[in-house]
This record gives sequence, structure tokens and C-alpha cells, in this order.
Amino acid sequence: MSAITVRVPAKVNLQLAVGPLREDGYHDLVNVFHAVSIFDEVTAAEPGDVSAAAPPLTVRIEGEWAGEVPANDDNLAVRAARALAGRAGRSYRADLLIRKSIPVAGGMAGGSADAAAALVACNELWGLGLPPEDLMEIAADVGSDVPFALFGGTAVGTGRGERLSRLETAGSFHWVFALADGGLSTPRVYGECDRLREEAGTDPGRPVASEPLLAALREGDAVALGRALTNDLQPAALSLRPSLAHTLHAGDELGALGSLVSGSGPTCAFLAASETHAAEIAAGLKNAEGCRAAVTATGPVPGAEVVG
Ligand code: C5P
Repeated sequence: MSAITVRVPAKVNLQLAVGPLREDGYHDLVNVFHAVSIFDEVTAAEPGDVSAAAPPLTVRIEGEWAGEVPANDDNLAVRAARALAGRAGRSYRADLLIRKSIPVAGGMAGGSADAAAALVACNELWGLGLPPEDLMEIAADVGSDVPFALFGGTAVGTGRGERLSRLETAGSFHWVFALADGGLSTPRVYGECDRLREEAGTDPGRPVASEPLLAALREGDAVALGRALTNDLQPAALSLRPSLAHTLHAGDELGALGSLVSGSGPTCAFLAASETHAAEIAAGLKNAEGCRAAVTATGPVPGAEVVG
């Protein structure tokens, strides 16, 4: 096979419970991930230039967000492909092409999604035949959100978010995402969360999964799910980007069943009652302060899969 294309979804966190800062710089989490129908596509192809001087891994990015993603060795897809080659114990070559639709640094795990897609595509292109468990392990080393992009669906992540268990859900949920101009750095948002907690003298305690949230997912109850959405990083994201409060308020005024900042932000997520309701909320949000664009999506959807 000379080229493999993998499609991979964005995620929204339905619950993000953040424990105290650990000694390794991470936080223990209870992270309820939900894969939604905004997709990036990653193609891994046999390289055009096979001269000894050519770099083994190259990357190109296309799409609306292309200018905001590093097209070099720092790219998460390149890091993932390098980690996979390392695990296989030799140097492999590939030209990667990423077609981006997932917002960059938006709290929707776009970079992690590209890393997961690169793992699946290169595993296939190089004929390595590594089983999903091995890809999950490599994924966790690349980043805390990468395993979920392989997994898809709805799942709860513990540890630093990388230990996943699938969650039972019924039906499909309708979402609207308000995309903001400019990203927010994930480490900075976690740091602001720690700072705000220290300032207030609050001890977060051990993070626990929300029973009402899990029940709402099991029953496919969008109204109950809307009420149960929580994100411990939201105060930190709002502190760093106060205009997000206007976006959240605008979605609430438009009748969203629930609203929250997605992950470390700045994307805001709104749960709608139906496809029509989602389209109405998206149309209304387009005029909201700080909102660059509003897109609709459904979830859950599968994780990274080969499409060509
Ligand atoms: O694992 P990943 O590289 O995606 O994480 C990015 C950053 O997010 C980490 O360097 C850390 O600052 C923060 N983080 C955290 N606790 C987690 C996951 C991420 O503090 N559980």
C-alpha cells in the first residue's frame, strides 16, 4: 500500500474533574471524553524523496487552521510516527498530510487526534501489524488525550486521563461548538487552575465521576446531561479569556440544554435538544462576542479509522 488515510474525531469533555497537582507536573483526572463529528484526516504516504539526505518524516498541513500548526518535528503527528518507528526498532519513512477541520489549541484535542491518526496510518503503511493495546501504550506516551482519539465513543479517563474505560450511552447527542479566535495553552490553563485554587485556599480532593452524568449518558437523556456537564478548568479558562463568559451566556440565552468550556478551552460547547435546535443555536451564536464561527456536530462517533 503506498498511502493510507485515517479519519479521526475531535472530543469534548462532558466532565473534567481535576485533582491536586502531582509531583510529575500532571493532575489526576476524572475525564469523561465524548468523540464528536468534527474530523481531521491524516494521510501517510511512501515518501517522494528517498535520497539519504531527505528527512525520514515530513508533514504538510491543509485546511482552515493550517497556518497555526507547526509543520516540523514538533508536530504531534510526526512525534507519534517517530515513537511508533522507535517501538518497531528501526527508522521508517513517511510523508504525512494533515487535513485540519478540528480547531487548533481549542480544547478539542485536535493535535492529539492527528497523533492518533498518524499511529494508525503508519502502523498500516509500514505493515507493522501492532495490536490496538500497543498503539494505546505509545499514544499515552505522546500525550494524555491521544489514547482517547484511538478509542472514540464515550469513555472515562483516569490517571492523567490516559487510562480509559468505555461508557455505555444511548442514542446520539446534538452539539454546537463556538470557536474562538486564538488558542489557549493547556499547561497555562492547568497552571491558572492551580493558582486560583491556591488563592482561594481550596483543596480539590480526589476527583470522582458524576453519577447523574453517567446515568444521563446511559439513558440518552439530553436534558439531564445538559444539567450534569462540568469542567473544573472552566474558571481558569474564563480567567485567562474573560470574553468566553459572553459566549456561554449567549448560548444559554438561545436555549442550550447545557454549556461549558471544552477541555482547556477556548472552544465553548452547547448541548441542543435536536438537530434543528442545534442549527438555531449555531445561527444565533455567530453574532456573539468573541465567537469566530459556530459549528454543529453529533456524538458519540468512532475513534481513528482507516478510510482509504
Ligand atoms: O499530556 P499532554 O502533553 O497532552 O499534556 C499537556 C499539558 O497539560 C501537560 O504538560 C500539563 O501541564 C497539563 N496536564 C496536566 N494534567 C493532566 C493532563 C495534562 O496538568 N492530567
